This record gives sequence, structure tokens and C-alpha cells, in this order.
Amino acid sequence: MADLRVTLLGTELKNPVIPASGTFGFGREFAELYDISMLGAVATKGLTLEPRAGNPTPRIAESRGVILNAVGLQNPGVRHFIEEDLAWLREKTKVIANVAGKDVEEYGKICALLDGKVDFIELNISCPNVKCGGMAFGIRPESIENVTWVAKNALKTTPLIVKLSPNVESIAENARAAERGGADALSLVNTFTGMAIDIERRRPILANNTGGVSGAGIKPIAVRMVLEAAHAVKIPVIGMGGITCAEDAIEFMMAGACAVEVGTQNFTDALACPKIIADLGAWCDAHGVERIRDLIGAARMNG
Ligand SMILES: Cc1cc2nc3c(=O)[nH]c(=O)nc-3n(C[C@H](O)[C@H](O)[C@H](O)COP(=O)(O)O)c2cc1C
Repeated sequence: MADLRVTLLGTELKNPVIPASGTFGFGREFAELYDISMLGAVATKGLTLEPRAGNPTPRIAESRGVILNAVGLQNPGVRHFIEEDLAWLREKTKVIANVAGKDVEEYGKICALLDGKVDFIELNISCPNVKCGGMAFGIRPESIENVTWVAKNALKTTPLIVKLSPNVESIAENARAAERGGADALSLVNTFTGMAIDIERRRPILANNTGGVSGAGIKPIAVRMVLEAAHAVKIPVIGMGGITCAEDAIEFMMAGACAVEVGTQNFTDALACPKIIADLGAWCDAHGVERIRDLIGAARMNG
């Protein structure tokens, strides 16, 4: 059986498969369906300093091959997470705490509260669904560098992953900005800003009007962006966007991702992650790949 272990910033993950932030809660519902300790790591729902109720409904809309969401960072707040969920989750697997602030100072405060308590922090500077900040930090190189620097300085021990927005002009430039700010790793992509209109009512379906587009249909764009980011920086990259099966995960790894996050597919099939892990092993065995880590960045460009 192929060796599925990968190393992320010196920490060994059992395999490269991580449920993506916002699609797995804090793992409790999924733990009723399967043993979540089989996962490489878990990325939590985005955590803010204070609890947030999120946006008004409807906040999810379906479209062919994708969904749109405008959940708006509904979460119980970072302190509640630390007190109620963290110990339970850490017993199971590695924990990536996804962090979202309404301003740069809040990012720093949340990071300081989580420092030393989680395996990694993933800075969500790219959520398109919150009015107060969110993507504002995530689209310009100067602000990406600045918020990364503030978060990094609030952390003494926990490594910092910066999650990039795809709604940008140059993903390579933004990847380099995060690296300059002190990011230890990058993850991408977050959702693409989109809209769906109810033609009978002649109004956007989402109460928020716009939402973040995710799911199978975004995969080719995400793969291209992961490859461009991986080529632009020296730090490791975690890839995501539309992964539905083991072959998709391998595509991201060949593009340069050292691990992958699986998001929307958890809604389509709650057992998506365990299936992908099993199928990754089978794919490697069938292709004579002894160590999955040998696939990282294996894709060679034509011409
Ligand atoms: C309902 C929903 C909620 C999300 N919430 C967050 C979040 O809190 N923080 C974050 O960084 N990304 C969030 N995301 C983005 C995902 O983590 C992921 O980057 C994106 O959906 C692309 O992957 P996918 O196509 O596999 O879903 C959310 C996505 C969805 C669909």
C-alpha cells in the first residue's frame, strides 16, 4: 500500500486530505458518520473574535456544477471554539484554525488567542461575503503583506498559512506578498465572487445578492492558480477548489500542492473525504507510486 503521508511545515499528516474551512463545521456532525481521525487534518469554520450570526437567508444557491454561498462567517467566536471544540478535535487529528477578522487588529488578536493551541492557523483574508473587511485585505499585495505581518507577529509558535483569494489580477504577485509578510505556507483558492438571478422574481437568489462560487466547476481555474502560486514562492502551498475525487486531488498535487482541501463535495457526499483517501491509495498502487509526496509538483509544462 502506497505511503500517503505528507509533511506540512515539519508536521506529518497521515495523508494530504483536509476538509476545507466552512464545509465541515468543527467536525462533530461528520464524526457521527465516520472516524475523522483518518483525515490528514481538519480546517475549522472561519473564527472571529466575537460570535457571528452570519448573513440573512437564502444564503446558499445551486447552479450547474457549482454552488454560491453567502454564509457570512457564522461562527460561535474563537473563545467558544477554544473552550468547547478544540480539545476534542485535537485528540482526533491535526487542527487548522481558520481565522477571519473585521480589521487587521482583530486578525492579530485572534491569532494571539490561538497561538500554541492549534497545529496551524489559516488566515482567511479572502472571504467575499462579509461587508466589514474580508476580501478588502485579500486583493491588494500591500494589504496582504500587512495583514500577514500583523498575524505573524502575534504568533510565537503556531505556523501561519495565508489563504488567498482568486478574485485578483495576479495570484503570483499576491502569493509573493504573503511570503514577504512572513507566511509559512499558502492555501488557495477561496471562492470566486458570483451571482445567480431568480428570473421569475427578477432578483438575485441570495439575500446578500452576491456570493462565493465553489464546487466542481471551478477546478480548472483553481488548478491553474495553484500552479502559478507554487511557482511564484518557496513556501509550501495547499491546493483546493472543486475537488470531488482522488484524481482531482492528484491534479492539484501535480500542480504543486503538498496537501489538498475538499470543500463543497462534503455537502454532496458526506463521505467524500474517506473515499478520496481510499482512492488515493488505490490510484498510487495502480500507478506504481510508492510515496504520494513524490507527486508534488510532478506536472511538467508543454513546450
Ligand atoms: C458554505 C461555505 C462556507 C465557507 N466558509 C469559509 C470560511 O469560513 N473560511 C474560509 O477560508 N473559506 C470558506 N469557504 C471556502 C472553502 O473553504 C473553499 O476555499 C472553497 O469552497 C473552494 O473549495 P471547494 O470548491 O472544494 O468547495 C467556504 C465555502 C463554502 C461552500
